[in-house]
Amino acid sequence: MRYSLLAGGKRIRPVLALATAEAVGLEPDRVMPTAAALELIHTYSLIHDDLPAMDDDELRRGQPTCHVRFGEDVAILAGDGLFAEAMRLVLDRQEGDPPHVLAALHEVVDAVGVSGMVGGQYMDVAQSEGSRSDIRHLHELKTGRLIGASVGAVLRLGDVLEPATITYRRFAAEVGVLFQIVDDILDVTGDEEALGKPQGSDERHGKRTYVSVFGLDRARELAAESHRKARAALAETGGRTARLEQITDYILTRQT
Ligand code: IPE
Ligand code: IPE
Ligand code: MG
Ligand code: MG
Ligand code: MG
Repeated sequence: MRYSLLAGGKRIRPVLALATAEAVGLEPDRVMPTAAALELIHTYSLIHDDLPAMDDDELRRGQPTCHVRFGEDVAILAGDGLFAEAMRLVLDRQEGDPPHVLAALHEVVDAVGVSGMVGGQYMDVAQSEGSRSDIRHLHELKTGRLIGASVGAVLRLGDVLEPATITYRRFAAEVGVLFQIVDDILDVTGDEEALGKPQGSDERHGKRTYVSVFGLDRARELAAESHRKARAALAETGGRTARLEQITDYILTRQT
């Protein structure tokens, strides 16, 4: 668990959570347990995503994947353990009115379950032939929902209510899809050393991605479009969104 978690990574999900706190006027430190829990869950998803039965990858965050280093049995348990420890972290450490903490945790768990990341990963491995709109749906679930929850959980902790949440949620959903479109592009164009994970993994496994479905040029256009929509939603929030704007730009232009 420590080997995979502390290997680095961009920490995009926790950073989004802290920046959302800033945007809605919460002290970022106050949401730290929830922010950290998002990273524990994300790391669990990476460990399982890399397993031989899934993407069968041997490099992650610049080092041998968890199962290569410790064996598949331990890697499966490390993922399971990180998920449970994430729940415990929020329940033990997250301050706030209990209804708000529970609502935040609900937001996170919902984003990870069948109508979220796990459902999306199922669609990814089941590889059913689908239409062009299905690839967006796959990305919304497998990556978009957890990234969206990084914003959504903090709205819950801050007890930000509708209609103020609507534009934040539109932002969060779009930035999540943007993240995975760029991930698909980097799988083709990225530098393995900089990425810290194998380049070309999607093509080797015949994965349906934005690049395989639309081609590289169109995928880049769709990423730019998604970035514009995310920025537009953010501008409508009326919050202190400077840092969220920076993160959104980084998600489009990142090379790792
Ligand atoms: C990779 O996530 C897996 C996806 C959901 C696309 P990241 O690109 O956030 O990986 P790390 O955390 O920086 O290693
Ligand atoms: C994985 O998507 C999304 C997860 C939920 C882990 P990918 O399979 O494209 O992620 P990478 O490219 O291996 O990081
Ligand atoms: Mg995968
Ligand atoms: Mg993978
Ligand atoms: Mg990928």
